[in-house]
Amino acid sequence: MMTPQNHDTPNMSVDIGGLLLKNPVMTASGTFGYGEEYACYVDINRLGAVVVKGVSLNPRQGNPAPRIMETPFGMINSIGLQNPGVKAFVTDKLPFLKQFDVVVIVNIFGETVDEYMRVADTLTQADGIHALEVNISCPNVEKGGMCFGTDPEIARDVTQRVKSVTHLPVIVKLSPNVTDIGEIAESVQAGGADAISLINTISGMSVDIENRRPHLQRVTGGLSGPAIKPVALKMVRDVVKRVSVPVIGVGGIMNASDALEFLIVGAKAVQVGTANFINPRATMDIIDGIEEYMMRHQMQDIRELIGTLNEGEGLC
Ligand code: FUM
Repeated sequence: MMTPQNHDTPNMSVDIGGLLLKNPVMTASGTFGYGEEYACYVDINRLGAVVVKGVSLNPRQGNPAPRIMETPFGMINSIGLQNPGVKAFVTDKLPFLKQFDVVVIVNIFGETVDEYMRVADTLTQADGIHALEVNISCPNVEKGGMCFGTDPEIARDVTQRVKSVTHLPVIVKLSPNVTDIGEIAESVQAGGADAISLINTISGMSVDIENRRPHLQRVTGGLSGPAIKPVALKMVRDVVKRVSVPVIGVGGIMNASDALEFLIVGAKAVQVGTANFINPRATMDIIDGIEEYMMRHQMQDIRELIGTLNEGEGLC
């Protein structure tokens, strides 16, 4: 899956729990469709990985509109995991992605643990999928999602059960809406997670003051975008200190500088989400920007960069 690199350019390849990526830049689930929607803007072959919108056992229509609201430096969504269901994903969406030399990661969701296992099983039998990202962090559904990601025991159990039905690397995507994200990270690692991605969106809401109603039909949603980057960065730093598996940083990454911050605090890879809605070529710009930074700092390998935060004694 990895294309050999030109010797003049730095080596940006990373190993995420046995999954070899040509560079550390992935798309974040739910912000890049199934790849096809962005193919006229982005050279999909250049991406480290494509992470597709969450896939469930049965088709889901999602929540009633309005379900997106722009906020200062971000947006709130309450999509409700709209998707065509795992069978239609495999027959209708996956063939497009299989044309490319890119790692395909499928974000999976279930209302019950059994559903997570059945989705994982079906995807494991399909050709062209390289890893699963277990979504235990969506704040916009009644059952499953974040309910499974806020209790360490349940989070470990879902991870273990998904691992029991697949040979694919399993990434678990964590919610920031917890007291101690490090505790959840340790639990999913104990459950066998090969890598951990964080953070999903932060629960939030927005009110229309003229009619005194929430902007979103479902009242609350998940906040994403630059507003959440400092929170995500701090949580990634916390989790990196607590687990040994690779950590993937997500949350408000808009440009290469943002991505570099996550890599420096110890994320082995990053996911780009809300930025795709503003600049559909954000991922390409970020890959170029990381490469440019490495060349400027005379780094030959991305490992010279990852986890090199110098906390010193802080600045006063
Ligand atoms: O509502 C949604 O589809 C969001 C999903 C997620 O945050 O994982």
